[in-house]
Amino acid sequence: MKITVFDNERVLARTLAVQIAASLGQRPATVLGLATGRTPIRLYHELGTLHAHGQADFSRATTFNLDEFAGVERDHPGSYRVFMQEHLFSRVNLPPENVHFLDGAVADPEAECERYETAIAAAGGIDLQILGIGTNGHIGFNEPARALEPRTHLVTLKASTRRSNAGLFHGDPEQVPSQALSMGMATILHARRIVLIATGKSKARCVERMVKGPIDTRMPASFLQLHRDVELALDRAAAAALRPE
Ligand code: F6R
Repeated sequence: MKITVFDNERVLARTLAVQIAASLGQRPATVLGLATGRTPIRLYHELGTLHAHGQADFSRATTFNLDEFAGVERDHPGSYRVFMQEHLFSRVNLPPENVHFLDGAVADPEAECERYETAIAAAGGIDLQILGIGTNGHIGFNEPARALEPRTHLVTLKASTRRSNAGLFHGDPEQVPSQALSMGMATILHARRIVLIATGKSKARCVERMVKGPIDTRMPASFLQLHRDVELALDRAAAAALRPE
């Protein structure tokens, strides 16, 4: 795993945004896999700023978001789709038809998950997957478990995950749906390139376990050790537990 430690979140976000804009320049039809959560917000805003300055063109890009809450309509203020609209899609020139999302409100989640896998394959697979990491080691909504699902599937969220998403639901973890649809581990690991962002001291321990621990379904992010092109973009606080051997 390539590890890059940045002085602070601002420099991290700016640097990654410039890299993504450059790869869009070289390969305009890039397929991006996107995460929500607090971590990538600055990156998305930086991409918006670069776009406003004519330095990032999304006109031929395609996006697939990692996950969505189950039972939540696409225009619900707590939906990840609304989150992405606010933080990225409204700020850049992505054609709406190139934006792909899991529909959390469908009657048949299994069929929806299959539809998503088919759509990713039809787009030629994901070129660059942006990830965050939960303090419990989840990526996407692949929560620690005895076994991990390979493909897009319906997941039951851990209490800690519902708590950390309470901000989207009036600060009340009870209002956060107990289930979500998420890309699976194999879906994520099939991306050609993966950049995982982790910032803040609350992430130091899971970053250490992801990098130095065994590959363990109880630490889903540890499976990234198997991927040949993963970069961890960390701020100093998140990198604090990584000491040289
Ligand atoms: C959300 C996602 C999650 C988050 C993780 C970290 O789409 O994929 O795995 O990346 O929960 O969330 P934050 O960034 O809020 O700490």
